[in-house]
Amino acid sequence: MIEYRIMTMDDYSEAYDLWIICGNGLNDKDDSPEGIEKYLKRNPSTSFVATCDGKVVGVILCGHDGRRGIIQHACVSPDYRRLGIGNKLVELALEALKKEGINKVLLVAFKKNEGGNAFWEAQGFTLREDLNYRNKALTEMVRIDPDYVKE
Ligand SMILES: CC(C)(COP(=O)(O)OP(=O)(O)OC[C@H]1O[C@@H](n2cnc3c(N)ncnc32)[C@H](O)[C@@H]1OP(=O)(O)O)[C@@H](O)C(=O)NCCC(=O)NCCS
Repeated sequence: MIEYRIMTMDDYSEAYDLWIICGNGLNDKDDSPEGIEKYLKRNPSTSFVATCDGKVVGVILCGHDGRRGIIQHACVSPDYRRLGIGNKLVELALEALKKEGINKVLLVAFKKNEGGNAFWEAQGFTLREDLNYRNKALTEMVRIDPDYVKE
């Protein structure tokens, strides 16, 4: 049976392994134990894990800045896909954001991630063709996901 609960630092190691397997974009700062601890401290009630027999099989990292919600690192173990686990994790994260008074939520997905984009489409996340996504690093961060290729 799949169970769902709020993510804590006790889940870090298993969640990290899953992010590596699932190809979520990771870097050495934000995804270190210190980085995730900082995130969960700031957003203690909006990130979730799915477990099966006590093993973490799905994760969603979700938080907000007081105005917009943001979802990152959503993943489900390859052996447990297309069972509605991703759908349930999103539902829990969105409910938790609503409880925090958040009105809109955003996420980014690599264009080449066809499965991921189809999933977000199914979750009702519309594509914004009118925006350019921009960012700027404030410290040096190193990508650590094994399959990452800079384009
Ligand atoms: C994306 C991901 C989290 C989906 O998890 P999941 O538990 O398999 O998703 P669900 O079973 O809840 O799927 C819900 C719906 O999303 C759509 N969907 C999910 N995966 C899909 C895929 N690979 N291709 C097309 N549609 C997909 C379907 O409409 C599905 O409903 P259906 O199974 O009744 O057809 C999972 O495939 C994953 O971990 N992928 C790798 C990491 C990733 O890409 N994360 C997103 C980063 S932006």
